[in-house]
Amino acid sequence: MTPLNATLTGVERHLAPDDIVVSKTDTKGRIIYANQVFLDIAGYVEKEVVGRPHNIVRHPEMPRAVFKLLWDTISQGNEIFAYVVNRSKNGDHYWVFAHVTPTFDQSGNIISYHSSRRAPRREAVEKVRTVYRSILDEEVRYNDPKSAAAAGAEMLMRKIVGTGNSYEDLVFSL
Ligand SMILES: Cc1cc2nc3c(=O)[nH]c(=O)nc-3n(C[C@H](O)[C@H](O)[C@H](O)COP(=O)(O)O)c2cc1C
Repeated sequence: MTPLNATLTGVERHLAPDDIVVSKTDTKGRIIYANQVFLDIAGYVEKEVVGRPHNIVRHPEMPRAVFKLLWDTISQGNEIFAYVVNRSKNGDHYWVFAHVTPTFDQSGNIISYHSSRRAPRREAVEKVRTVYRSILDEEVRYNDPKSAAAAGAEMLMRKIVGTGNSYEDLVFSL
């Protein structure tokens, strides 16, 4: 398999201050809706993303632990905020501050997920990048993805406990 980073350009794309990047997925994480801002920044047309798994925009510098925390949180019916670097179709990248929520039916079952994202502050990106790099360094020591995500998540939790705050406090302090 070609490593993803074989096609990274190193070029960063930036959202405009008022841009909101929106996507919705089914319960398995397959994209069911993407707004025009999403398509523009990620470099796709709608038919290329709808029906595809959301990891279509996954960037190799994102720790698995962050997605584990995301899925653990939203599948339990809770919302999460997270900094994410994504990969555009041509290998460029873009940072977002994301808010991901479950959508419920009238009986309280989760029927889909929704993410809206805005441009993060530069200072926050620099701090997050350092944290993510150290988690990724830990994760690459493991061969299987599950062990990597678990080890990365443990490290993320240790970093959070070390601050004396919750994950959410930490995210909003950046
Ligand atoms: C609503 C929603 C939005 C998501 N948005 C992103 C995203 O922008 N970028 C991303 O890499 N993963 C996103 N994910 C997480 C992906 O489903 C997936 O867990 C992640 O890309 C890691 O994929 P992998 O485990 O195949 O490496 C999102 C998931 C949901 C439910």
